[in-house]
Amino acid sequence: MIEILVLYYSRKGSTAELARQICRGVEGVAGVQSRLRTVPPVSTVVEASEPAVPGDGPPYATHDDLKQCAGLIVGSPTRFGNMAAPLKYFFDGTSALWLTGVLAGKPAAVFTSTQTMHGGQETTLLSMMLPLLHHGMYIVGLPHTEPALTRTRGGGSPYGASHVSGDETRVRLDEHEKALAQLLGRRVAELAVKLVSR
Ligand SMILES: Cc1cc2nc3c(=O)[nH]c(=O)nc-3n(C[C@H](O)[C@H](O)[C@H](O)COP(=O)(O)O)c2cc1C
Repeated sequence: MIEILVLYYSRKGSTAELARQICRGVEGVAGVQSRLRTVPPVSTVVEASEPAVPGDGPPYATHDDLKQCAGLIVGSPTRFGNMAAPLKYFFDGTSALWLTGVLAGKPAAVFTSTQTMHGGQETTLLSMMLPLLHHGMYIVGLPHTEPALTRTRGGGSPYGASHVSGDETRVRLDEHEKALAQLLGRRVAELAVKLVSR
């Protein structure tokens, strides 16, 4: 059994829901399971203010999670067209791993949630690819052979899975957003299986 690490940050739940759909796609591939992890918010003061274990939701990611995974799928809400600071902060702490090359040659993908349709989904997805490329990972996207990619009137792009949250109070991914999130998980899982069995 190999594992795909699904690592995300979410404040209001949209990116978290995308992460759960991606896990469903991962788990649909024989011999693969998902490991869901999040990152703590960044403190505005110098001392850490968060407990080591979150009060609810998945555990915080550790470097061991990155070492042990056969693939990595990373998600963040859009913050001014970019990934959120907590996720960037987490990656900024991975230079020791980068030196070992432990992520090099593993598949990776990205996902995001924005409030508005043209609020920077693609730029956020691209921003999350940058540290993954520096770590030597193979970036996996979504193909136009999947009908949902053409039909969607919400999230979903060749660069990764996404959701347009609007000003809704309750998270509700539409059918295309769900299908594309699951497909992304499946594609990374399938590639991971091929790469580990080389
Ligand atoms: C500081 C900040 C910056 C944001 N910047 C953008 C933005 O550039 N474009 C956009 O569409 N939404 C922006 N948003 C809204 C969030 O990206 C959006 O509500 C997202 O769906 C939240 O995801 P979550 O439910 O996983 O926290 C911003 C929100 C905050 C707090």
